[in-house]
Amino acid sequence: MIKVAPSILAADPINLERDVRRAVESGCDWLHVDVMDAHFVPNLAYTPDVVRRLKESFSVPLDVHLMMDEPETLLEAFLKAGADVLTIHAEIGEKAAGLLEIIRESGALAGIALRPGTPLEAIDGLKEKADLVLTMTVEPGFGGQKMDERVLDKIRALRDSGYGGYIEADGGIREDNLQRLIDSGLTAAVMGTALFRIADMRAAVERIHQMKRTKNEE
Ligand code: DX5
Ligand code: ZN
Repeated sequence: MIKVAPSILAADPINLERDVRRAVESGCDWLHVDVMDAHFVPNLAYTPDVVRRLKESFSVPLDVHLMMDEPETLLEAFLKAGADVLTIHAEIGEKAAGLLEIIRESGALAGIALRPGTPLEAIDGLKEKADLVLTMTVEPGFGGQKMDERVLDKIRALRDSGYGGYIEADGGIREDNLQRLIDSGLTAAVMGTALFRIADMRAAVERIHQMKRTKNEE
């Protein structure tokens, strides 16, 4: 069954607790928490303190996505705050390998993310150190964008490489394009706008949980 990870970037910041409770009560598997440094991406988002308070208040696993040039500065803080999945970006270069090792050693799942234009080869030698590969389906930084369909090829290639961890996508995913992603090999879906802007989130999560791979996309 595909993991459903609502992205709290689409929640109402002044009603974060209310919106997170709604996501949790809808049966989501993980909660996706975006972290932005206004440098790797042109926006700012959540801090270790927010992760810590989410951890204290809810039992849902926290899937923390670090869109940062220097994740090493806050890696320990996010681990200590309670990240269950901690994802860094491949574009930060050589230091990524060591950071994935630190994440794994802490007991969290280690994730490696790719911008839409970054080729799969960028994680040769890294994906073995990662429990999850996050293929961005939009340029990171903002919710509510349209999915870049070209990323489907990358997801398929990753699946066909025999990668055994989670294959996650993030950005522009909606119920009406999710089937193609699942057919391509997706096993975890981050969804912001499509879940938080729907009237009945529980029914949507149930429908998504029932979606199965129907065919292998060519
Ligand atoms: C984009 C973020 C996403 C974002 C997805 O940079 O990483 O997690 O919240 O939002 P939607 O689903 O609205 O595209
Ligand atoms: Zn994200």
